[in-house]
Amino acid sequence: MINRDRLKKLHKKEEARFLARTLKSRERFKAAKDVMPGGVPMSWMAKWPGAYPLFVASAKGAHFVDVDGNEYIDLCLGDTGSMTGHSPAPTVKAIEEQLSRGITAMLPTDDAVLVSSELARRFGLPLWQFTVSATDANRHAIRYSRLITGKSKIIVIDRCYHGSVDETFATLDGSGKTVSREGNIGAPVPLDETTRVIEFNDLAGMESALKPGDVAAILMEPAMTNVGIVAPEDGYLVAVGELAKKYGAVWIIDETHTISVGPGGMTKDLGLKPDILTIGKAIGGGIPTGTFGMTREIAGEIAKRTSREVIDTGGIGGTLAGNALSLAAMRATLIEVLTEANFKKMIALGNRWCDGVDAAIREFGLPWYCNRLGARGEYLFQAKAARTGGEAAAAGDFELEQYIHLRLLNDGFLLTPFHNMALMSPDTTEADVDAHSKAFREMCKELVG
Ligand SMILES: Cc1ncc(COP(=O)(O)O)c(C=O)c1O
Repeated sequence: MINRDRLKKLHKKEEARFLARTLKSRERFKAAKDVMPGGVPMSWMAKWPGAYPLFVASAKGAHFVDVDGNEYIDLCLGDTGSMTGHSPAPTVKAIEEQLSRGITAMLPTDDAVLVSSELARRFGLPLWQFTVSATDANRHAIRYSRLITGKSKIIVIDRCYHGSVDETFATLDGSGKTVSREGNIGAPVPLDETTRVIEFNDLAGMESALKPGDVAAILMEPAMTNVGIVAPEDGYLVAVGELAKKYGAVWIIDETHTISVGPGGMTKDLGLKPDILTIGKAIGGGIPTGTFGMTREIAGEIAKRTSREVIDTGGIGGTLAGNALSLAAMRATLIEVLTEANFKKMIALGNRWCDGVDAAIREFGLPWYCNRLGARGEYLFQAKAARTGGEAAAAGDFELEQYIHLRLLNDGFLLTPFHNMALMSPDTTEADVDAHSKAFREMCKELVG
């Protein structure tokens, strides 16, 4: 359907456009390459479309300005880290107040109780521990699961992403065997020693992976969000929870991205009962943080096995975890920014964004599908929703994606670099969304020729 020669020509045009409008970013990048591998402070930042990443001068709400003075509507929002909008006023105020009262002391502050209570209210799990990132929360949830079950294996879903946790970076090879995923660097052991991978929405596969009785935990997102959006089929998640119970495995739900559906994520919306829930990114309004909540039963089992004498090695560690600054940021973000009212607005905008994308897909007869997840939307280069991560991955089209991202960037829109995902913040406006719909339509029109 897409003429590849035409696509190459269009891409060349956008490359030239990018170079002409980002001269100062180009200068900054030249200097950056001398002091950082790939010229970026963190490897993912090398993945942006264009010859180099934009350097940001300032960001506020749903917008940012690059060092050349170009303005953008930010639909990536720090890949959910700034789902609150950049520098939300209540979070900034709480951070400013806390900065002059001490940043970290490795002692609890009142905010720890407030934040834990709020998380318990939202997600239904009574007890909470804090980490520095969602990655850490997942790693510790897995460690505790192994501790209390005495079992070694974990189950993850094919094409999942839970941060840089070695044993979750597995995939299925063509024959159904668990292998290390491309790009997984430095895994300490072959991944089939630690992990079983199964497809999303596959209950029979889940049960056979649990049957040997050696599984400590199932770690999953309630809807997949890192290979496009893949929704759970009716009853799937509840059935997974029941299987986990039947085979004595801990059920860990990662709500880091799926909080886009509402204040209590899909766990609250669907009345799920995980043993452990992990989350990070948005809940700190951009300040690094992560957390995991657990049932009293899980906490009791952990307590039985972690004596005070060895708590520094057996506990979650991370010296800066639970620091006063991130707890102050979380308190303000949860209570004043990621509110019920703001979610209502963000979800309406998410639907509006998807409506705009759907309209262009229909008008130009493109074989693409736009999936919705509350304040989040994403289109996939196949005509129907994917049922599994494997199916979504197979619909990937790197060349096309690179073009679309660069074209929209030049038009003033930043999409998440790894896929065609857009996220709405409380500061995003209908005008922002409509501007995207217009630009997206123009792009599709030119693409089909
Ligand atoms: C579902 C999910 N869990 C965990 C993480 C890890 O978050 P962080 O990089 O903040 O540790 C991510 C990051 O994209 C994620 O998408």
